[in-house]
Amino acid sequence: MESMRGLKRTHGCGTLSRNEVGSEVVVMGWVDSRRDHGGLIFVDLRDRSGIVQVVFSPDNKTAFTKAENLRNEYVVAVAGTVRVRPEGTENEKLKTGDIEVVAREARILNRARTPVFYIEDGIEVDENLRLRYRYLDLRRPEMQRALELRHRAAKLIRDFLDSRGFWEIETPVLTRSTPEGARDFLVPSRLNPGKFYALPQSPQLFKQLLMVSGVERYFQIVRCFRDEDLRADRQPEFTQVDLEMSYVESDDVMALVEELLAVVCREVNGLEIATPFPRITYDEAMRRFGTDKPDLRYGMELRDVTDVAAGCEFKVFKVAVAAGGQVRGIRVPGCADYSRKELDDLTKFAVRHGARGLAYFLYTDEGLKSPITKFFTTAELDTLINRLEAAPGDLLLFVADAPDVVAAALSALRRELGERLGLIDRSRFEFVWVHQFPLLEYDHEEKRFVAVHHPFTAPVEEDVERLRSEPEKVRARAYDLVLNGVEIGGGSIRIHRRDVQELLFGVIGLAPGEAREKFGFLLDAFEYGTPPHGGFAIGFDRLVMLLAGKRTIRDVMAFPKTQSGTDLLTEAPGAVAPEQLAEVGVRVLDRKNRERS
Ligand code: AMO
Ligand code: AMP
Repeated sequence: MESMRGLKRTHGCGTLSRNEVGSEVVVMGWVDSRRDHGGLIFVDLRDRSGIVQVVFSPDNKTAFTKAENLRNEYVVAVAGTVRVRPEGTENEKLKTGDIEVVAREARILNRARTPVFYIEDGIEVDENLRLRYRYLDLRRPEMQRALELRHRAAKLIRDFLDSRGFWEIETPVLTRSTPEGARDFLVPSRLNPGKFYALPQSPQLFKQLLMVSGVERYFQIVRCFRDEDLRADRQPEFTQVDLEMSYVESDDVMALVEELLAVVCREVNGLEIATPFPRITYDEAMRRFGTDKPDLRYGMELRDVTDVAAGCEFKVFKVAVAAGGQVRGIRVPGCADYSRKELDDLTKFAVRHGARGLAYFLYTDEGLKSPITKFFTTAELDTLINRLEAAPGDLLLFVADAPDVVAAALSALRRELGERLGLIDRSRFEFVWVHQFPLLEYDHEEKRFVAVHHPFTAPVEEDVERLRSEPEKVRARAYDLVLNGVEIGGGSIRIHRRDVQELLFGVIGLAPGEAREKFGFLLDAFEYGTPPHGGFAIGFDRLVMLLAGKRTIRDVMAFPKTQSGTDLLTEAPGAVAPEQLAEVGVRVLDRKNRERS
């Protein structure tokens, strides 16, 4: 192995162009590939900026011998001269494809084992292997681009918010529980045995306290921690662009977020997005799409046929309606030729998403065909067709059940079929605000009301009195932002009065003592002149995922965790020594005891 001494890197491999022709340059990077060709050796050298071809000629014996020993991923330094490639040997796929570096000197700075997968884009490798060797995975150009894009977006956001008078302020990671609907990660305190810090699910309470402190405009690009069941777009630790403003209404916060995202989309992706973003109410989102995270890039909206179902002879429908349920359906364009097996698979899919079954009609030239057609009059069938605006060739799907079950199953079907049928235009960015959420929902398991967002969200002013009488009817001053069917952020105007906050804690079943124990500091703060305030948090990983055109947030995080919350690279979480546990006063129960308790 050799040292770099005396050689100073002058250029990134991918930055070389015809401008450097004739100059002496020094490049350093990894061997991307080596090819021996009729006496010449060609090495593609790769660094962060890209790839350049280096030529070794036998005329230069020392350098040539070294090139003969190069293997993929060796780290090398090359000093040489840039020249235009001979005609006909240009490589259009490379940005530097019309030039090459003729090596004068080469040094092997480090050798490498054969990498466990190819360092190139579009590899099909088990993701666990990529995570185990993340440092190799991140060397791949598409991952480098994702890291750069993420950095670029963060920088733009900082600059934008700074230009609007926001201060970036750090808040504690070792803190008390900040409820956002997930479980807390706990950290035992050695200095206070038997006591625990909770990692923040968000900086919610601190940013509100900063408004009481007179900061007026706060932001932070901040790590949040939630111990929840993981899915493709969830991680136990993730990043928010968190912000809070004093003396604002919902519209002010929404306008600021729109402007911020317009800047990011323009500067990062060259995308001009129209503002203001469309707004739909929670009720409308549920009615038209069956979800509060609607993807507006395609149609297939849900249609209600409960009235037809109530009068028909199909028992499944009738019974569902009689029990207070609904029947709704979607029109799947051009799928009237689905086979029995395809329909069975769709039924299974619907059942996996909570439905008890799936009723279907194939709209052929002879009309609606289905084993259940016989239970409907011609007039009823016509109504189904009209209601779904169906045309011959379409497939009609219906689910009968309680409204939330119908919504969940049909929205899942809509999404699945939209993907499958290629109805989604991937070049489109459809932002939509969802607002007028209910403040509270009844949790049947816990037998109490819980906050739909978090318990610091303000109720719509006219509704405050209803908190005592009809909590389920109180609307929240909350707004979620959805991009292409992904919830990329949420926020609200906050409660800033002690009496209202205490009332709300009461409604969600927090006893006064408990409220004081957990949130007394906030309630106290509200008594010292708290300005009206509100804010927002963008799920930064999700935003970057969509900007980068990725399907999972893991592809835009340097070191993400697996679905089971482990880090395959460092093998966290790991066991700790008994002495460490003793120090913090913690004993680990074996599985049997844990299940019993
Ligand atoms: P909320 O809980 O909606 O709001 O979180 C804001 C946004 O963070 C993203 N997000 C996640 N991203 C990746 N992995 C996760 N586990 C995860 N959980 C949430 C989502 C979500 O929209 N304090 C409030 C904000 C406020 O009221 O100002 C809050 O945290 O994109
Ligand atoms: P069954 O009466 O169970 O034989 O069902 C007849 C058809 O109705 C089958 O295609 C079922 O998948 C469908 N079905 C059953 N339950 C429901 C439901 N809740 N909503 C929609 N279709 C259903």
